[in-house]
Amino acid sequence: MNNINWDALRQAARDAMQHAYVPYSKFRVGAAGLTTDGRIVTGCNVENASYGVTLCAECGMISELVRHGGGRLVAVCTLGNDEAVTPCGRCRQLLWEHGGPELLVELEGKPVPMTELLPHAFPEASNFTNPNG
Ligand code: THU
Repeated sequence: MNNINWDALRQAARDAMQHAYVPYSKFRVGAAGLTTDGRIVTGCNVENASYGVTLCAECGMISELVRHGGGRLVAVCTLGNDEAVTPCGRCRQLLWEHGGPELLVELEGKPVPMTELLPHAFPEASNFTNPNG
């Protein structure tokens, strides 16, 4: 899909960001993803007193994707306090699972494929050989 409306994705990320629960960092993050069938799914970060269990905005977005019937992501935009955010390592693996190597992620205004964000990625389950079937 080459007709990606990045403006709409940025706006959706901005809207999601308003719902962030960030009493600890005060860093509001919103993520928005476009699916192959034209849906936009979003998420915001949800922090926790046990800092390490904080949910990134991308986690929420993936959860919404799955809850709304799944599908594949073609483009993702993440904004933090209204500026471009680079997804953390854990979220890159989540994005890979649901968008694969061709998924485009906007980094500082430039779409970057997942192969650049996560080279030598651990493959999604359907692509690895499991001796246990
Ligand atoms: N955060 C995200 O939501 N997504 C990322 O890709 C990077 C970090 C959040 C987690 C935490 O609530 C805040 O940003 C500061 O690290």
